[in-house]
Amino acid sequence: MAKVKIMETALRDAHQSLLATRMRTRDMLPIVEDLDKVGYFSIEAWGGATFDVCLRYLNEDPWERLREIKDGLNNTPLQMLTRGQNLVGYKHYPDDIVEKFIEKAYSNGVDVFRVFDALNDIRNMKKTIEVAKSQGAHVQGTLSYTISPVHDLDDFVNLAKELEAMDCDSLAVKDMAGLLYPQAIYELVKRLKEETDLLINLHSHCTSGMTPISYYAACQAGVDILDCAISPLSWGTSQPPTESIVAALENTPYDTGLDLKQLNHIKKYFEKIREKYSGLLDPIAEKVDTDVLVYQIPGGMLSNLVSQLKQQNALDRYQDVLDEMPKVRKDMGYPPLVTPSSQIVGVQAVFNVLYGKYERISNEMKDYVKGFYGQPPKPISEEIVKKIIGDDERITVRPADLLEDEYDKFKELGEEKGIIKKEEDIITLAMYPDVAEKFLKGEAEEEEIPDPKKIKSEEEGAVPNQFNVEVDGDVFEVKITPTGHVAVEESEKNLQPIVKGSVLSNIAGIVSKLLVKKGDHVDIGDKIAGIEAMKMENDIISEVSGTVETILVDEQDTVNVGQPLMIIKEEE
Ligand code: CO
Repeated sequence: MAKVKIMETALRDAHQSLLATRMRTRDMLPIVEDLDKVGYFSIEAWGGATFDVCLRYLNEDPWERLREIKDGLNNTPLQMLTRGQNLVGYKHYPDDIVEKFIEKAYSNGVDVFRVFDALNDIRNMKKTIEVAKSQGAHVQGTLSYTISPVHDLDDFVNLAKELEAMDCDSLAVKDMAGLLYPQAIYELVKRLKEETDLLINLHSHCTSGMTPISYYAACQAGVDILDCAISPLSWGTSQPPTESIVAALENTPYDTGLDLKQLNHIKKYFEKIREKYSGLLDPIAEKVDTDVLVYQIPGGMLSNLVSQLKQQNALDRYQDVLDEMPKVRKDMGYPPLVTPSSQIVGVQAVFNVLYGKYERISNEMKDYVKGFYGQPPKPISEEIVKKIIGDDERITVRPADLLEDEYDKFKELGEEKGIIKKEEDIITLAMYPDVAEKFLKGEAEEEEIPDPKKIKSEEEGAVPNQFNVEVDGDVFEVKITPTGHVAVEESEKNLQPIVKGSVLSNIAGIVSKLLVKKGDHVDIGDKIAGIEAMKMENDIISEVSGTVETILVDEQDTVNVGQPLMIIKEEE
């Protein structure tokens, strides 16, 4: 029996799951050479949310991080997670950007590309796989694992066969929600081993508490690689502990052959790291959450939901939303709940409960139903389609086929602004234009690492109003509607008198765009602004025809439900 290999997630998923992805490169580099000596199958060190967080919060160049880590890895392949056509972002990028990104990721040090798509739509993975293959990389196709009344083993096995036909070298079973049952993974891995020649790599999170048992069951079925995190960064919403899995498999046919003493040295290093970042540890992320077994909703998504409901002043509807979630998921053709489908479904459930069934719909939900995210696992009923997009057209082609090439545009833009020093900067700019521009101009700042002692003493008197919320590993910043003295200034600012003609925000969130300016004429039904709540955009529609008299908010302002956004003078 072949030995089982371990993929170590300490430098990517583990801190993404537990420490809001905030680990700095300088805290990784001192241990890289020791990690290199262990004998892991690979070390995951890039991709997922790390790219975004580097630019947004750490004032770090993600490409530099990649090169520096790679410098210390002489024996162990460096692995990254990519969201297929979404790369390391939250939308589809055109093919030329995908090409350049993957080429540069490879030339800067990525050896293994794990490629997934939230909907398991192979068309969204195809380009990434092709480019990575053509570079000579190890390409790992991915099944985003989910449970539903309509998903059966055959669906997953067929997808695996398609990925094998596309020349993938291995296959990840990605259980992002941590809802894998031991017997289910046993049956799945067994069939995958019987019907494909792919190496099988299991990726899970400990959320439900069953994961180490599932890992053992996967071993019995012939799994090749297990994703683990060194113990100080394990458990909770992270992976099972590396040392425990190594020890459990010793003297079995699945022995990893790894040296526990060597791992102990690495563990000691990460104990200090955990302590240093403990102010970021979310108690929810740390504990076992068996709700995932009842609702099949990832733990992080539940905490996000709580924040969302608090924001809308409707925490008392929590249970209703929980009950609504599976119904929305069913209506949407049972997408796996992972970024971005988790947010789209979650927010719709909130809307349905607060405002009536499909009475309010985010723009992302409309795009989902139109097919812009790919094909849902099962068809959406005509009735639901009609409710959500009316008579608007749906697409059947691969979504990225509709996108124009963008590389040259960003090259020009970047050069015009004088912020391009290397080719990678153009890709960075194309990924997140706003955040990247600030970073490339040198205007980004490194966020402070919260001091855990200070947080404790503050708990007594003050009410924090800003939280980081994690959804299956992606971190979102959420501002809670002010209720305590901490944010008095904020709430006073929001107390504007409501006069005739006021257009009120129908949701708490951030003004993502203002589509009109003072003096503009608007008609009934015109979109006049967008409010972003939990990464979903909601249109504000004019209910009158008239002239925009005053605009009361700026883009990026935080607004509450019922807050006036502008005043429109109605036509007589
Ligand atoms: Co993960």
